[in-house]
Amino acid sequence: MNIITDTSIGVFDSGIGGLSVLNALKTYPFKKIIYAADTAHLPYGEKTPEFLQERAIAIVELMKTFGIKTIVIACHTSSTTTLPLLLKLYPEITFIDMLEPTIIAALNSTKNRKVGIMATARTIATGHHKTRLLAYNKTIKVYESACPKLVNLLESNGQLHELNAAIDEYLTPLLEEKIDTLILGCTHYAFLKDLIKAKA
Ligand code: DGL
Repeated sequence: MNIITDTSIGVFDSGIGGLSVLNALKTYPFKKIIYAADTAHLPYGEKTPEFLQERAIAIVELMKTFGIKTIVIACHTSSTTTLPLLLKLYPEITFIDMLEPTIIAALNSTKNRKVGIMATARTIATGHHKTRLLAYNKTIKVYESACPKLVNLLESNGQLHELNAAIDEYLTPLLEEKIDTLILGCTHYAFLKDLIKAKA
């Protein structure tokens, strides 16, 4: 029997968002986890696809210097915008992203088939979550809300009243559509889950 003990993984995000993913990964006994927070270049949600592709390549190259062969893209914005290129450029690396599990969870959760998505402007521009939801079920009604203020507020330790005001701005139109399921399509927003839940 071979016992695998030397699994190492890389995890990256623009900033603290991926820590919500890292916390879950920590329960598995990886030998080494390298976490890259690209804070000098956030918010990713306001950047061009070309810029995000350059950043993703730079981070993968950095991970490679640590001998990492499995990379978790703990960022919806980077995943929706860079994954096809990364898969092409690095066939030797396994990439894991947040996207499909989120879609499946939303499909399993909704009863009235009205699903909301809060995500960065770049992620919403890709239409990725909406396209995937509709690919599984054409009868789903998808309501999208780009939330450009949230990542900066979270990264700068924004005041609670500012966070609440921004959440109200982005969430209210979705609640008015009577969604019964909300996709937090940005890993940063996991830290807002309780604030969001209190309003829903
Ligand atoms: N955590 C990233 C995501 O999941 C945030 C992107 C940003 O920096 O705007 O999309």
